[in-house]
Amino acid sequence: MTTVADAIDGYIQRHGPQAVQRVLAPMLTDERIARIDRVLAARIGSVTVAVENTYDPHNAAATLRTCEALGLQDLHVIEPHGPFSAAKGVVRGAAQWLDLHRWPSVEAAVAALRAGGFRVLATRPDAARSIDDVDVATPLAVLFGNEHDGLSPTALAACDDAIAVPMFGMTESFNLSVTVALVTSRLAARRRAVLGADGDLDDARRAMLRARWFSFGVRGAEQILERGLGT
Ligand SMILES: C[S@@+](CC[C@H](N)C(=O)[O-])C[C@H]1O[C@@H](n2cnc3c(N)ncnc32)[C@H](O)[C@@H]1O
Repeated sequence: MTTVADAIDGYIQRHGPQAVQRVLAPMLTDERIARIDRVLAARIGSVTVAVENTYDPHNAAATLRTCEALGLQDLHVIEPHGPFSAAKGVVRGAAQWLDLHRWPSVEAAVAALRAGGFRVLATRPDAARSIDDVDVATPLAVLFGNEHDGLSPTALAACDDAIAVPMFGMTESFNLSVTVALVTSRLAARRRAVLGADGDLDDARRAMLRARWFSFGVRGAEQILERGLGT
């Protein structure tokens, strides 16, 4: 099934992001455009999250929302046993601002992340290395496990290293989405300090996202593009 988002991406591919932005910009207020530009300037692609086989829609939704709010652009979902579903009320529209990458197996996800230049880190409560000792000089992908069983043995074996968020209480692990928040906020802040900038998307990706984001909230964006650009 082709969604409106697919149709807008089709216009971006066929006509280029600048043409799409030019047609849609008159429908947006200056404040809206400035907000989009501010958020895009702070978008970070070199810290990313992958979740393996989560089953609680509230955790999935909180993970999406946290990643978006912290300025990550990509979320990888490893779903060998069925689709990742996020509770609608909790997502509050966060999902549309992210690029969701779905993987049928952890091997496929890790291979793609490595090919993209990421070091791949597992999270587990009993890992010897603390999150604060992670080298953030290069791009990082962090894997999070299932609410009950944690990461699978396959995932743990596939990763380059394992890290823990230190715990000081009687509880043996954090909730999944809480861990995503703790880990991504710390690693993204440290990575931004290394970059010397809030964001690191290249110009082409930023232009593509800007065009896509212009279409959100414009009623009938697809028809407006058809009138302005043809098919
Ligand atoms: C509820 S925990 C799963 C607990 C599971 N019994 C285990 O030992 O991994 C869900 C996920 O949160 C993450 N997590 C929870 N506490 C953590 C901690 N202290 N350090 C690192 N990751 C943690 C891991 O990704 C884990 O797979």
